Amino acid sequence: MSEVIIYNARPEDAEAICRIGGYFPAGSESPTPENIRNHIWQFPEGQLVALLNQRVVGFALTMRTNHSPDEHPLPWLDAVGDLDISNHDPDGLWLYGIDFVVDSNYRRKGIGTRLYQARFNLVKKLGLRGFYAGGMLMGYQHYCHQMNIRQYAEKVIRGEISDPTVTMQMKRGFRPYRLIENYTCYPAAGDAAMLIVWKNPQQISI
Ligand SMILES: CC(C)(COP(=O)(O)OP(=O)(O)OC[C@H]1O[C@@H](n2cnc3c(N)ncnc32)[C@H](O)[C@@H]1OP(=O)(O)O)[C@@H](O)C(=O)NCCC(=O)NCCS
Repeated sequence: MSEVIIYNARPEDAEAICRIGGYFPAGSESPTPENIRNHIWQFPEGQLVALLNQRVVGFALTMRTNHSPDEHPLPWLDAVGDLDISNHDPDGLWLYGIDFVVDSNYRRKGIGTRLYQARFNLVKKLGLRGFYAGGMLMGYQHYCHQMNIRQYAEKVIRGEISDPTVTMQMKRGFRPYRLIENYTCYPAAGDAAMLIVWKNPQQISI
Protein backbone atom coordinates (compact mmCIF):
# COMPACT_ATOMS: atom_id res chain seq x y z
CA MET A 1 0.00 0.00 0.00
CA SER A 2 1.26 3.52 -0.78
CA GLU A 3 2.16 5.58 2.21
CA VAL A 4 -0.66 7.02 4.29
CA ILE A 5 -0.08 10.56 5.47
CA ILE A 6 -1.76 11.94 8.60
CA TYR A 7 -2.11 15.71 8.70
CA ASN A 8 -4.25 18.54 10.06
CA ALA A 9 -7.49 18.85 8.10
CA ARG A 10 -7.70 21.82 5.76
CA PRO A 11 -10.97 23.67 5.06
CA GLU A 12 -11.05 22.08 1.60
CA ASP A 13 -11.11 18.59 3.21
CA ALA A 14 -14.51 19.27 4.83
CA GLU A 15 -16.54 17.88 1.93
CA ALA A 16 -14.53 14.62 1.89
CA ILE A 17 -14.94 14.26 5.66
CA CYS A 18 -18.72 14.60 5.33
CA ARG A 19 -18.75 12.08 2.46
CA ILE A 20 -16.93 9.46 4.54
CA GLY A 21 -18.88 10.38 7.71
CA GLY A 22 -22.16 8.94 8.72
CA TYR A 23 -21.43 7.92 12.29
CA PHE A 24 -22.01 11.30 13.85
CA PRO A 25 -24.28 10.28 16.69
CA ALA A 26 -26.61 13.26 16.65
CA GLY A 27 -29.84 11.62 15.72
CA SER A 28 -31.05 12.64 12.32
CA GLU A 29 -28.67 15.58 12.11
CA SER A 30 -25.39 15.32 10.25
CA PRO A 31 -22.72 17.97 10.16
CA THR A 32 -22.31 20.00 7.00
CA PRO A 33 -18.95 20.96 5.51
CA GLU A 34 -19.54 24.38 7.11
CA ASN A 35 -19.75 22.70 10.55
CA ILE A 36 -16.48 20.87 9.86
CA ARG A 37 -14.81 24.10 8.77
CA ASN A 38 -15.91 25.59 12.09
CA HIS A 39 -14.16 22.71 13.91
CA ILE A 40 -11.00 23.42 11.90
CA TRP A 41 -11.23 27.13 12.60
CA GLN A 42 -11.67 26.61 16.38
CA PHE A 43 -9.14 23.83 16.96
CA PRO A 44 -7.04 23.13 13.87
CA GLU A 45 -4.62 20.76 15.61
CA GLY A 46 -7.49 18.55 16.76
CA GLN A 47 -8.88 17.80 13.32
CA LEU A 48 -6.90 15.08 11.54
CA VAL A 49 -7.28 13.37 8.19
CA ALA A 50 -5.55 10.36 6.63
CA LEU A 51 -4.53 10.84 3.02
CA LEU A 52 -3.73 7.97 0.64
CA ASN A 53 -2.83 8.71 -2.97
CA GLN A 54 -4.08 12.27 -2.37
CA ARG A 55 -7.49 10.99 -1.31
CA VAL A 56 -8.98 11.47 2.17
CA VAL A 57 -9.58 7.94 3.49
CA GLY A 58 -10.19 8.62 7.16
CA PHE A 59 -10.60 11.34 9.74
CA ALA A 60 -10.44 11.92 13.49
CA LEU A 61 -12.14 14.99 14.98
CA THR A 62 -11.52 16.14 18.54
CA MET A 63 -12.15 19.01 20.93
CA ARG A 64 -10.81 20.05 24.33
CA THR A 65 -12.88 19.91 27.49
CA ASN A 66 -12.56 20.25 31.25
CA HIS A 67 -15.30 17.67 31.78
CA SER A 68 -13.22 14.83 33.17
CA PRO A 69 -14.01 11.19 32.32
CA ASP A 70 -14.29 10.61 36.08
CA GLU A 71 -17.36 12.86 36.21
CA HIS A 72 -20.83 11.73 35.19
CA PRO A 73 -20.57 10.93 31.45
CA LEU A 74 -22.52 13.12 29.06
CA PRO A 75 -24.47 12.05 26.00
CA TRP A 76 -22.58 12.95 22.80
CA LEU A 77 -24.62 16.03 21.92
CA ASP A 78 -24.39 17.43 25.46
CA ALA A 79 -20.63 16.84 25.41
CA VAL A 80 -20.01 18.68 22.14
CA GLY A 81 -22.73 21.33 22.57
CA ASP A 82 -23.86 21.32 18.95
CA LEU A 83 -22.57 20.42 15.51
CA ASP A 84 -20.24 23.45 15.63
CA ILE A 85 -18.70 22.03 18.86
CA SER A 86 -19.65 25.11 20.85
CA ASN A 87 -18.46 23.30 24.02
CA HIS A 88 -14.86 23.20 22.77
CA ASP A 89 -12.78 24.78 25.55
CA PRO A 90 -9.36 25.98 24.33
CA ASP A 91 -8.06 25.54 27.90
CA GLY A 92 -9.63 22.13 28.47
CA LEU A 93 -7.30 19.56 30.03
CA TRP A 94 -8.83 16.57 28.21
CA LEU A 95 -9.02 15.73 24.54
CA TYR A 96 -12.48 14.41 23.64
CA GLY A 97 -13.20 12.30 20.54
CA ILE A 98 -16.00 13.82 18.43
CA ASP A 99 -15.86 11.29 15.65
CA PHE A 100 -13.44 8.88 14.03
CA VAL A 101 -14.05 6.97 10.82
CA VAL A 102 -11.94 5.17 8.22
CA ASP A 103 -13.54 4.73 4.80
CA SER A 104 -14.91 1.16 4.70
CA ASN A 105 -12.79 0.39 1.59
CA TYR A 106 -9.60 1.15 3.50
CA ARG A 107 -10.13 -0.51 6.89
CA ARG A 108 -7.77 -3.07 8.47
CA LYS A 109 -4.72 -1.44 6.92
CA GLY A 110 -3.50 0.33 10.05
CA ILE A 111 -4.99 3.75 9.22
CA GLY A 112 -7.15 3.91 12.36
CA THR A 113 -4.13 3.00 14.47
CA ARG A 114 -2.13 5.80 12.85
CA LEU A 115 -4.92 8.28 13.60
CA TYR A 116 -4.96 7.18 17.26
CA GLN A 117 -1.19 7.54 17.48
CA ALA A 118 -1.53 11.08 16.14
CA ARG A 119 -4.18 11.86 18.77
CA PHE A 120 -2.01 10.44 21.57
CA ASN A 121 0.92 12.53 20.28
CA LEU A 122 -1.31 15.62 20.35
CA VAL A 123 -2.25 14.92 24.00
CA LYS A 124 1.46 14.71 24.88
CA LYS A 125 2.38 17.79 22.85
CA LEU A 126 -0.34 19.88 24.51
CA GLY A 127 0.45 18.43 27.97
CA LEU A 128 -3.14 17.26 28.48
CA ARG A 129 -4.29 14.72 31.06
CA GLY A 130 -5.49 12.31 28.41
CA PHE A 131 -7.97 11.46 25.75
CA TYR A 132 -11.43 9.97 26.07
CA ALA A 133 -14.41 9.19 23.89
CA GLY A 134 -17.58 7.20 23.68
CA GLY A 135 -16.51 4.08 21.79
CA MET A 136 -19.44 2.93 19.69
CA LEU A 137 -20.31 -0.75 20.23
CA MET A 138 -20.68 -1.35 16.51
CA GLY A 139 -20.89 -5.14 16.78
CA TYR A 140 -23.98 -5.13 19.01
CA GLN A 141 -26.29 -5.37 15.99
CA HIS A 142 -25.18 -9.02 15.56
CA TYR A 143 -26.03 -9.92 19.19
CA CYS A 144 -29.06 -7.73 19.91
CA HIS A 145 -31.47 -10.71 19.77
CA GLN A 146 -29.40 -12.67 22.31
CA MET A 147 -28.59 -10.08 24.99
CA ASN A 148 -29.08 -6.49 26.04
CA ILE A 149 -26.45 -3.81 25.48
CA ARG A 150 -25.16 -3.99 29.06
CA GLN A 151 -24.56 -7.76 28.83
CA TYR A 152 -22.87 -7.24 25.44
CA ALA A 153 -20.61 -4.49 26.83
CA GLU A 154 -19.56 -6.70 29.76
CA LYS A 155 -18.62 -9.52 27.40
CA VAL A 156 -16.58 -7.10 25.25
CA ILE A 157 -14.74 -5.85 28.35
CA ARG A 158 -14.01 -9.45 29.44
CA GLY A 159 -12.76 -10.31 25.93
CA GLU A 160 -15.50 -12.90 25.37
CA ILE A 161 -16.82 -10.98 22.36
CA SER A 162 -14.67 -9.00 19.95
CA ASP A 163 -16.31 -5.72 18.97
CA PRO A 164 -15.01 -4.19 15.71
CA THR A 165 -14.63 -0.78 17.30
CA VAL A 166 -14.30 -1.05 21.08
CA THR A 167 -12.04 -4.13 21.08
CA MET A 168 -9.80 -2.35 18.56
CA GLN A 169 -9.71 0.66 20.90
CA MET A 170 -8.89 -1.50 23.93
CA LYS A 171 -6.02 -3.08 21.99
CA ARG A 172 -4.70 0.40 21.19
CA GLY A 173 -4.33 1.21 24.90
CA PHE A 174 -7.74 2.54 25.93
CA ARG A 175 -9.26 1.44 29.22
CA PRO A 176 -13.00 0.74 29.13
CA TYR A 177 -14.50 2.69 32.06
CA ARG A 178 -18.22 2.10 31.82
CA LEU A 179 -21.19 1.83 29.51
CA ILE A 180 -22.94 5.11 28.67
CA GLU A 181 -26.57 4.35 27.90
CA ASN A 182 -28.51 6.78 25.68
CA TYR A 183 -25.23 8.24 24.44
CA THR A 184 -26.49 8.56 20.91
CA CYS A 185 -29.36 7.79 18.61
CA TYR A 186 -27.70 4.85 16.86
CA PRO A 187 -29.79 1.67 17.37
CA ALA A 188 -27.23 -0.67 15.73
CA ALA A 189 -24.93 0.12 18.65
CA GLY A 190 -27.78 -0.01 21.18
CA ASP A 191 -27.84 3.82 21.34
CA ALA A 192 -24.96 3.37 23.77
CA ALA A 193 -21.19 3.75 23.93
CA MET A 194 -18.30 2.52 26.02
CA LEU A 195 -16.49 5.30 27.85
CA ILE A 196 -12.89 4.66 26.79
CA VAL A 197 -10.01 6.54 28.39
CA TRP A 198 -6.32 6.90 27.59
CA LYS A 199 -4.28 8.76 30.20
CA ASN A 200 -1.17 10.68 29.22
CA PRO A 201 1.71 8.61 30.69
CA GLN A 202 3.69 11.85 31.12
CA GLN A 203 0.95 13.24 33.44
CA ILE A 204 -0.09 10.06 35.19
CA SER A 205 0.74 11.28 38.73
CA ILE A 206 -1.48 14.40 38.43
C1 LIG B 1 -12.86 1.69 14.09
C2 LIG B 1 -12.16 2.04 12.79
C3 LIG B 1 -11.94 3.55 12.73
C4 LIG B 1 -10.80 1.31 12.75
O1 LIG B 1 -10.08 1.75 11.60
P1 LIG B 1 -9.05 0.80 10.83
O2 LIG B 1 -8.30 1.66 9.90
O3 LIG B 1 -9.73 -0.37 10.27
O4 LIG B 1 -8.09 0.37 12.05
P2 LIG B 1 -6.72 -0.46 11.93
O5 LIG B 1 -6.54 -0.96 10.54
O6 LIG B 1 -5.64 0.38 12.49
O7 LIG B 1 -6.99 -1.64 12.93
C5 LIG B 1 -8.07 -2.53 12.70
C6 LIG B 1 -7.57 -3.94 12.69
O8 LIG B 1 -6.91 -4.18 11.47
C7 LIG B 1 -5.67 -4.84 11.77
N1 LIG B 1 -4.73 -4.50 10.73
C8 LIG B 1 -4.00 -3.37 10.63
N2 LIG B 1 -3.21 -3.42 9.53
C9 LIG B 1 -3.49 -4.60 8.93
C10 LIG B 1 -3.03 -5.22 7.75
N3 LIG B 1 -2.12 -4.64 6.98
N4 LIG B 1 -3.56 -6.43 7.44
C11 LIG B 1 -4.49 -7.02 8.21
N5 LIG B 1 -4.96 -6.48 9.34
C12 LIG B 1 -4.47 -5.29 9.69
C13 LIG B 1 -5.27 -4.28 13.07
O9 LIG B 1 -4.34 -5.10 13.74
C14 LIG B 1 -6.60 -4.22 13.77
O10 LIG B 1 -6.97 -5.47 14.31
P3 LIG B 1 -6.79 -5.74 15.86
O11 LIG B 1 -7.54 -4.63 16.57
O12 LIG B 1 -7.39 -7.08 16.04
O13 LIG B 1 -5.32 -5.65 16.13
C15 LIG B 1 -12.98 1.58 11.55
O14 LIG B 1 -13.29 0.22 11.68
C16 LIG B 1 -14.27 2.38 11.35
O15 LIG B 1 -14.27 3.45 10.72
N6 LIG B 1 -15.39 1.84 11.88
C17 LIG B 1 -16.71 2.45 11.74
C18 LIG B 1 -16.82 3.77 12.47
C19 LIG B 1 -16.49 3.64 13.93
O16 LIG B 1 -16.82 2.68 14.59
N7 LIG B 1 -15.83 4.69 14.45
C20 LIG B 1 -15.46 4.76 15.82
C21 LIG B 1 -16.52 5.46 16.58
S1 LIG B 1 -16.12 5.48 18.31
